[in-house]
Amino acid sequence: MNEHDLAQSTAPASISGYDYGRPNSAHSPVSLEEMRQIEATAGWSEEDARILQRHGQIFKDNAEEMVDSWRAVIGSQPHLAKWFFDPDGKPDEDYKAKIRKRFVQWVLDACFRPHDQTWLDYQEEIGLRHVPAKKNLTDGAHTPPVVPMRYLLAFATIVTIGTRKFFVDRGLSCEELQKLEDAWARTVQLHITLWSRPYVKEGLW
Ligand code: HEM
Repeated sequence: MNEHDLAQSTAPASISGYDYGRPNSAHSPVSLEEMRQIEATAGWSEEDARILQRHGQIFKDNAEEMVDSWRAVIGSQPHLAKWFFDPDGKPDEDYKAKIRKRFVQWVLDACFRPHDQTWLDYQEEIGLRHVPAKKNLTDGAHTPPVVPMRYLLAFATIVTIGTRKFFVDRGLSCEELQKLEDAWARTVQLHITLWSRPYVKEGLW
């Protein structure tokens, strides 16, 4: 199975609001050349992509549990949980459930999708979904209009360091485990870097 087939095989068409590769997705103003420069800056290489794919089964087996563990952190901190609340101040459970499915799919996409134009475009879309331009739009929700950038950035440690526990006990050598942790940290950093773009004033990103 090639890279494209692998990615397709993990992407059910039925996820509500999942617009990867669809006309609804934003088009990224970042060029592929700029993106390669960001990759180089983060120390990302094709070897990282291969490592994530080599251990893709770990992500397939655990994507839901990973997402639930990250979301438990959000749920336990009122200053994070409130971005999922409806105007009555209660969690919007329908919104949360829909986002959860796309978040689980993101874990698989981060492992299997090639970093091409379609991937780049969907990173712009995910960034926009965290800011007023598109937050709430996909699910017709009425929660606050932005996830403040400070939390998007700070949360990266939860998604990287907080995910190590899923990589151990899988029979990997110390060296391979380190490579996997590094590749996962780099991909998360890359995603968040691209998602930060819509937050930043023209010319400053
Ligand atoms: C490392 C940090 C983060 C990652 C990896 C992440 C990942 C994601 C993903 C994959 C989606 C769904 C994208 C799609 O629609 O296909 C999403 C949406 C969302 N995330 Fe984040 N996120 C992060 C930080 C945060 C934080 C800190 C909050 C709030 C405390 C947050 C709140 C939301 C909300 C409310 C949505 C839905 C936005 C909408 O479409 O209305 N995210 N996130």
